[in-house]
Amino acid sequence: MDHARLGRTGLQVSKLCLGTMTFGLQCDEPTSVAILDRAAEGGIDFIDTSDAYPLGGDLTTQGRTEEILGRWLQGRRDRFVLATKCFGPTGPSPFDAGNSRRHIFDAIDASLHRLQTDYIDLYQLHGFDPATPIDETLGALDDLVRQGKVRYIGCSNFLTYQLVRAIGRSETLGLARFDSVQPRYNLLFRQIEREMLPFCGEEGVGVISYNPIAGGLLSGKHHRGASPPEGTRFTLGNAAQMYQSRYWHDREFDTVDQLLPLAKEAGVSLVTLSVAWVLANKAITAPIIGASRPDQLASSLEAAEFMLEDDLKRRLDELTHEYRMGDAPR
Ligand SMILES: NC(=O)c1ccc[n+]([C@@H]2O[C@H](COP(=O)([O-])OP(=O)(O)OC[C@H]3O[C@@H](n4cnc5c(N)ncnc54)[C@H](OP(=O)(O)O)[C@@H]3O)[C@@H](O)[C@H]2O)c1
Repeated sequence: MDHARLGRTGLQVSKLCLGTMTFGLQCDEPTSVAILDRAAEGGIDFIDTSDAYPLGGDLTTQGRTEEILGRWLQGRRDRFVLATKCFGPTGPSPFDAGNSRRHIFDAIDASLHRLQTDYIDLYQLHGFDPATPIDETLGALDDLVRQGKVRYIGCSNFLTYQLVRAIGRSETLGLARFDSVQPRYNLLFRQIEREMLPFCGEEGVGVISYNPIAGGLLSGKHHRGASPPEGTRFTLGNAAQMYQSRYWHDREFDTVDQLLPLAKEAGVSLVTLSVAWVLANKAITAPIIGASRPDQLASSLEAAEFMLEDDLKRRLDELTHEYRMGDAPR
């Protein structure tokens, strides 16, 4: 597995990052462990999680994913680059969420405890908090870096103007700066190409993008007209509605129908082609891949070995051009 520097930092990460949000609800612990083992065998040493996971759960399940990952990391923590996030609700009070100094300090200690480690390599804000001044948030994150609890900081689901402003404030105030962003990006959602990716390229901000196969739609296994199959992302608890509204539309199914023959022509699955297309973008540091079963990882891992020819990339770009429009962050 090739490695790349995370933005302007000296930190080397594998070109595929493993996402964990299925662990603890959609996947039980043995399945989660099997996915982690398979990813590690495939050369992945960069793992992304969040204190809000598992996906599709609520306050009664929140934190389970980090707990499972923490148990698996015992005895091998130093072999992995570990990324987690804060922002989502972790308790019933309004102060148990968001990017305030109070919540960030509570959230990091809870994550370190569940992950059974004394440092996080990359600590990310899971979303933008309009109710907290960005200077307060950046000051709190800078303190975590100085305390040694956190090595690098990043953010997720920010609009470009929010990121630009945050980086400007960090520089003005002499605080730790975001070294990565975590936006949604795939053949069916390309909005970040217009502003976010050019900015990150110019400023040396790493990009670890999520949803590379659109939560499974870019596998070609789903069918329009049919109800989303039980047990998959599109029926998963309170995430079902979000994923159906993102991707379960005639326009997206039409595009998948047009993409499938291109994958066949290239001799790979549409999953491999879709992940390879994200990897082929020089502004992307590492797509975050996901799975609900270990065998699903084979096609994503294959993307790291697959050379996407320029001509095929151009055809994919043209076919999905309309998905560049809009400015929604997620
Ligand atoms: N920052 C954020 O807001 C945010 C949001 C989303 C994700 N993320 C991060 O990104 C990671 C990856 O996101 P993602 O899981 O949405 O990525 P994805 O690669 O777009 O979707 C993965 C899902 O697709 C299906 N799948 C995977 N391989 C398959 C195969 N070979 N054949 C058929 N179906 C396959 C599985 O779902 P089924 O088995 O259910 O069909 C799997 O869970 C997450 O774990 C998380 O770490 C972050």
